[in-house]
Amino acid sequence: MNSTQLTSMLKKVCLSIVTLSFLYQPGFSQVQHAPVPFRVDNLTCEYKTNPIAVDAGNPRMSWKLISLERGIQQTSYELRVGNNAVSLTKGKDLIWTSGRVFSDQSVHIYYGGPMLSSRQKVYWQVRVWNNKNQASPWSMVNFWKMGLLKPTDWTAKWIQDNYTSDTTGGPSPMFRKSFKLDRKVRAAHLYISAHGVFEAKLNGKRVGNDYFAPGWTSYNKRIQYQVYDVTSSLQKGNNAVGVTIGDGWYRGYTYNRKKDVYGKKLALLFQLEVVYTNGQKQIITSDKSWKVAYGAIRSSSFFDGELYDARKDKLNWTSPLYKDQNWDTVRVDETIKDNLIATSGPSVKKHEKFLPLKVFNTPEGDRVVDFGQNLVGWVQFKLKGKAGDTIRLFHAEVLDQKGNFYTKNLRTAKQEITYVFKGDSAETYEPHFTFQGFRYLKVVGYSGPLDSTNLAAYALYSDMAQTGKFSTSNPLINQLQHNIQWGQKGNFIDVPTDCPQRDERMGWTGDAQAFCRTATFNMDVAGFFTKWLKDLSADQHKDGAVPYVIPNMLDSASSAASGWSDVSTIVPWNIYLAYGDKQVLQQQYESMKKWVGYIQFHSRNYLWDTGNHFGDWLFYAGTNYEDGAALTDKNLIAQAFYAHSTQLLINAAKVLGKNDDVATYTQLLGNIVKAFQSEYVTPNGRMISGTQTSYVLALNFDLLPENLRESAAKRLVGNIEDYDDHITTGFLGTPYICHVLSRFGHTDMAYELLMKESYPSWLYPVKNGATTIWERWDGIKPDGSFEDPEMNSFNHYAYGAIGDWMYRVIAGINTDEASPGFHKILIAPHPGGKLTSTQAELETMYGKVKSAWSIDNNIFTFDVIVPPNTTAQVILPAVTDQITENGLDINTEKEITGIRKVGNDEYLEIGSGTYHFVYTMKIPAKKK
Ligand code: BGC
Repeated sequence: MNSTQLTSMLKKVCLSIVTLSFLYQPGFSQVQHAPVPFRVDNLTCEYKTNPIAVDAGNPRMSWKLISLERGIQQTSYELRVGNNAVSLTKGKDLIWTSGRVFSDQSVHIYYGGPMLSSRQKVYWQVRVWNNKNQASPWSMVNFWKMGLLKPTDWTAKWIQDNYTSDTTGGPSPMFRKSFKLDRKVRAAHLYISAHGVFEAKLNGKRVGNDYFAPGWTSYNKRIQYQVYDVTSSLQKGNNAVGVTIGDGWYRGYTYNRKKDVYGKKLALLFQLEVVYTNGQKQIITSDKSWKVAYGAIRSSSFFDGELYDARKDKLNWTSPLYKDQNWDTVRVDETIKDNLIATSGPSVKKHEKFLPLKVFNTPEGDRVVDFGQNLVGWVQFKLKGKAGDTIRLFHAEVLDQKGNFYTKNLRTAKQEITYVFKGDSAETYEPHFTFQGFRYLKVVGYSGPLDSTNLAAYALYSDMAQTGKFSTSNPLINQLQHNIQWGQKGNFIDVPTDCPQRDERMGWTGDAQAFCRTATFNMDVAGFFTKWLKDLSADQHKDGAVPYVIPNMLDSASSAASGWSDVSTIVPWNIYLAYGDKQVLQQQYESMKKWVGYIQFHSRNYLWDTGNHFGDWLFYAGTNYEDGAALTDKNLIAQAFYAHSTQLLINAAKVLGKNDDVATYTQLLGNIVKAFQSEYVTPNGRMISGTQTSYVLALNFDLLPENLRESAAKRLVGNIEDYDDHITTGFLGTPYICHVLSRFGHTDMAYELLMKESYPSWLYPVKNGATTIWERWDGIKPDGSFEDPEMNSFNHYAYGAIGDWMYRVIAGINTDEASPGFHKILIAPHPGGKLTSTQAELETMYGKVKSAWSIDNNIFTFDVIVPPNTTAQVILPAVTDQITENGLDINTEKEITGIRKVGNDEYLEIGSGTYHFVYTMKIPAKKK
């Protein structure tokens, strides 16, 4: 037997083992045997695997079909839900079953059984049938657990310290209590929240691995609680709990050094529910029996860092043996707990670890560590010092032109960690309630060796699964993709922020709407944005004005800016497209409508030309405004976004079947477009602002008469040529410019923009060593000096919005809007820009989509994966000869249908499966 035969035999053996393991799953014998492995996996409830804090009345379930066969479609499904995992698999004691439902829907299926009660844990499984007459076995059993649904479920009280001296930036209060458990514990769940951010320990062990919990919401209206299964942290007999609370977003410093935004007093809400093995229950809650003290955290702040005096450590204070008789009593706050909500989005967790790349002295004599990546998180160290010795760590994103440590762009944010040694053996420390945006660390007060044995940086960000991968034959583009992803990681810290380092770090809406669609390709952001959108609705003003930042911590006048407030229509629509999530449209519909209503009210003759707008923020301004400045009229932009938001509202109304609204707003849109044309477009289609952004918005939002669009696109190309093929758009034009160029047949020009290495361009920062996306096209100017430190972040994701075009056009992975969430996939790769290959993958709600192409001597090779229960339209570009798939003529393969040629492109329809296409490509003559 040669090696190929051996491999093939091994494969067969493995396959039969896999098949057997399918066959012997519980419940299988009740269904028809599947001839090949066909199963259901990746069960989620409200986007989570086995969540334990669900407060949706009718939670939604999703699953993925697994099959290696081609053309697999779900034809029906059956769901069953029960109170007990074992009887569920026997089909007994069910609380709800869907029965067999003939439908291809495998995502967002509503639970349809009796109303579930607080704390109820239910188990569920699903089986499906497909179009090849196969039945899957019942899936593995999954579960979800309901949260605390009513205010009266909370017997715990908010507790605070009694200190009058406490203030923003002061010591972090530590709350503790010892308690006894009489019996062996069967299950224990902790329901916990804070005014501030908490870290909880039970018997010395940290509870969970979340940071900055309970997360940031519009606290006065909605405050999240977390739920942890803490069964394994408790014991029969003596136990203790300790919870430390930091200022966090609740009362910490924010923009303009405003503080106490939500209140002055930090507080804890703690409810530990224990079930003993004999079924008896015990609840330990925060109440007046708790004790409080200050310890080693002398101050902690997101902006400023942390001051930790290890001499003040209260050793073992969360263990049962600790004596707290000298601690102070707490104050009970009787605030009604009617604004508590279960945590729905992903919590912040610790992710990548970076070791020092190099340690060096700057020309100014500072000792600096380079971690090689501009990241957001903190530094952990293990160092030795004498009692009272102080080490200070400063954090910076960049070095200046001379190689010195540069922190001016942090404005008033100190980003400083001060640690006072207690003088033991090596002391290990990492901060608690702060995060820094940095690549470089300046170390003061410690002269011993610094290396990977005693220093590491950790990235912290919302725990979103990476769903997208994108790489090409061009390393600079790959670095750009890397920078986009790191811009996302660094700025998705519970809410989408503008930047993570200077004294701002707020949920700026313009930035979020610009980047949102790209974000949906890189990571699973469904839960993240769904949660944030609820805060948007909560903070939207009565008249419909949407604040500049969400959660809103600015005054009420800081609202209603075009391109910023339109986040209220753009993000829900993007989430709907990416995840097929209708509910997010339902949830946000009133908010969307109110925003359009606000503009309507402030318009005259359908023209919105009032109010304060940021315009095309940070567009290319030349060396002065006479010199090539690309300034677009702000009111033109406002009118364009008025139309866009109205269009998205119409789209949402159509999806939700609100026909009256469709009619009303379609009429309104017609008038908005007319007003746009008469005010900002000449009869020949010239825009009154002759800028890239002006043409981009008009074309992207369909604001020009059909017959003038081609010529307007040519004007756009001409404008780009005037700038020697450079981009000049700001935050609002950038997300769409390449899409507009591609839509009107100018993908070659889109590639010119993408591949440009000189300022202004996407690759200019890359060539200058960027590891994240910069706020400005020229954060570091071509002469090496910095832009204005008042506004010069090196980690701002907005310009990273090009990522969407890279996935959707270069790799060509898109969803059909009529069948969103990639249920019907459009795969249309666009080679160009001297790229010889591109590989992209996207983990959708149905499974992995892949598009990987390469060109070698005009031979185009294209590998595609389409997940089960989806179909795809593939458009193969510039075809000259017969296309083969896996060596066969495509016309002979029954799984490939709808073959037709449009120009040089070949259109095909395929079902799920793996495909390998090869053909000779027509290489277009170079235009320039
Ligand atoms: C933020 C931006 C934001 C802008 C509004 C800035 O300070 O950092 O990203 O969108 O203000 O103009």
